[in-house]
Amino acid sequence: MKLFYSAASPYVRKVLVVAHELGLADRIERLPANAHPVNRDRTIVALYDSRVIVDYLNALGRGDLIPHDASARVRVMVEQALADGMLDAAVLARYENAVRPEALRWKEWTDGQLDKIACGLAELESRVTGFGERCDLGTIAFGCALGYLDFRFAAFAWRDRHPNAAAWFEWFGGRDSMVATRPSA
Ligand code: BEZ
Repeated sequence: MKLFYSAASPYVRKVLVVAHELGLADRIERLPANAHPVNRDRTIVALYDSRVIVDYLNALGRGDLIPHDASARVRVMVEQALADGMLDAAVLARYENAVRPEALRWKEWTDGQLDKIACGLAELESRVTGFGERCDLGTIAFGCALGYLDFRFAAFAWRDRHPNAAAWFEWFGGRDSMVATRPSA
């Protein structure tokens, strides 16, 4: 399998963590891709997006990262949607402040994106005490979201306001799959 890949992308990371957890990582060839809001990379096609790819990998590996039971499955999918929503806001804020020319930047807009992340973190903080030792698509998506905040938004200091999530991520972030997929610029 070929995966168009950016070492900084939290969505790619989610796919790779899933592949590691399913024992499929060695079957994935990483092809460089440059996802960017301005300099478009039109080679990126085929199976997309990360939500579809992880569903495919879970079926291929006959995994249970996406539960079969209907209510457990909905819970995991909602968690993935929440974590991806936090990531979408974070990536937009990142582009606004790293790519958009300084004179065009809109602080209130960035603050709105950061508020979405804050709301997502508050929801995660209330859910995380029930996670136990779960490793599934929901917890993987949250792990990748928190990892991206550490990578691009260290000053956001999310741990200061979310001790339960911080304690959980201390453990979850140490999984082999998370360590093997740490982002780099
Ligand atoms: C980043 O560099 O932060 C990034 C790269 C690819 C996708 C999303 C974010």
